[in-house]
Amino acid sequence: MADIQLCALDQVPNGGALGLEATLQGQPAALIAVRWGEQVRVYRNRCPHFSIPLDYQPGLFCTYRNQLLMCAHHGAMFRFDNGDCIDGPCEGARLDSVRAYQQDGSLWLAEIQGANEKVHA
Ligand code: FES
Repeated sequence: MADIQLCALDQVPNGGALGLEATLQGQPAALIAVRWGEQVRVYRNRCPHFSIPLDYQPGLFCTYRNQLLMCAHHGAMFRFDNGDCIDGPCEGARLDSVRAYQQDGSLWLAEIQGANEKVHA
């Protein structure tokens, strides 16, 4: 199975976040991509505090200084680069990362032993 194109890199706002839907291990999965400059990371859109999505409204995320993502519910702050929660009620927890990479101006989900099946951008 080939890797799967998630979106164009420039669809992810610089210093911001973009919500995406994909199928992982046969199950629908809400994802979030964060970008700062040419760097991008993808995580599951699920706060480790209450296991609910991080957005205020579907697709609306709060980011801070091109490096932090804030959960809409109780203000947990997560680092863009590794998903660590550095402040808030789940400090010390971490967002679930999803293997992704950029190539030819696009963001791709890396196939993990056939686990990633398709994406709904
Ligand atoms: S659900 Fe995210 S901080 Fe509480």
